[in-house]
Amino acid sequence: MTSTLLDQLQRPLRDLRISVTDRCNFRCTYCMPKEVFGHGYDFLPKEEVLTFEEIARLARIFVELGAEKLRLTGGEPTLRRELHRLVSELAAIRGVHDLTLTTNGSRLVEEARNLRNAGLQRLTVSVDALDDVTFRAMNDVSFPVHRVLRGIEAAREAGFAPIKINMVVKRGVNEAQIVPMARHFRGPDSILRFIEYMDVGNTNGWHMADVVPAAEIVARISAALPLEPMTANYRGEVARRYRYRDGDGEIGVISSVTQPFCGDCTRARLSADGRLFTCLFASTGVDLRTPLRTGAGDKEIAALISSVWRQRKDRYSEIRSSETATQPKAEMSLLGG
Ligand code: GTP
Ligand code: 5AD
Ligand code: SF4
Ligand code: SF4
Repeated sequence: MTSTLLDQLQRPLRDLRISVTDRCNFRCTYCMPKEVFGHGYDFLPKEEVLTFEEIARLARIFVELGAEKLRLTGGEPTLRRELHRLVSELAAIRGVHDLTLTTNGSRLVEEARNLRNAGLQRLTVSVDALDDVTFRAMNDVSFPVHRVLRGIEAAREAGFAPIKINMVVKRGVNEAQIVPMARHFRGPDSILRFIEYMDVGNTNGWHMADVVPAAEIVARISAALPLEPMTANYRGEVARRYRYRDGDGEIGVISSVTQPFCGDCTRARLSADGRLFTCLFASTGVDLRTPLRTGAGDKEIAALISSVWRQRKDRYSEIRSSETATQPKAEMSLLGG
């Protein structure tokens, strides 16, 4: 038996979030604002992006070190060609208890069945509004909401249930959609999670005044559809859970700004170019691609990852202030949230 790998705050490594591409077909104003991610933006060249074989090899090493949950992210992960091939490889790793993906839903009509057949266990789809004008304005490429809703339907038909829905709430932008979204995604087939708008990256012009606190979100929903708190599914769960008093399903709130959850953070992040980040708000990562491509053995790479994890003491959300909000950070589209 190997002993549990712990960081400086005694947190084990349990989850690996893998970004498979830094590209996206949306330009959500809170994540990839067009002014920054426009025509001249330098996305990663293909040769710098990890291959599926490289990702799978690293994932196996992370699982050896204690990771049990793998989540694929982007950018938009379904833009990566043949993503289901990677899913099959990851699904075959012994010790992976949860294999899931976060997507904007735009390509689910085409991809949901392939992903399911390849062994993807769960799916989270981002939907910021049901109102089409608001939805198109937030993705900023005028993508219609009905196509994402169709994608969610296709995912249900492929066997994903329940499906988690992520809504990032921004003051004055989509707050009027909180209750309509709650009504729409009520019931056993969906778990809607409201995410406080965060100061990730350096480009979204975040201000505290744009955040709608989770407590306010819960109060607004509860006034229309009474809620009661539930216990967490597992230690370190990001979302706080509430159920409808009438028994018609549950919601979650992800309050990274007003009620941070760093104390239980067991998440490592792998960027599309093979860097290990120990926090969503870190500015630099540790290069794993170079050792991977210059002949290092699995043991050597495992030792590198272990030494990074042992030194980890990140707790950004707990020490966030107006100063830290402007310090250099990697972009969300590189880290996948
Ligand atoms: P489950 O595995 O279904 O519990 O999902 P999850 O909540 O871990 O995953 P998801 O990718 O859907 O995360 C939802 C959102 O929570 C992300 O998009 C981020 O906005 C936020 N989030 C996830 N992990 C972290 C984290 O470690 N720190 C912070 N600050 N926010 C996080
Ligand atoms: N604040 C909160 N959530 C964000 N996401 C992207 N950018 C932000 C931000 N600035 C969310 C996406 C998606 C998840 C991966 O992260 O909407 O649901
Ligand atoms: Fe793309 Fe998701 Fe970022 Fe929107 S939040 S720009 S869909 S990666
Ligand atoms: Fe984990 Fe960093 Fe998020 Fe805190 S801010 S929960 S340490 S990723």
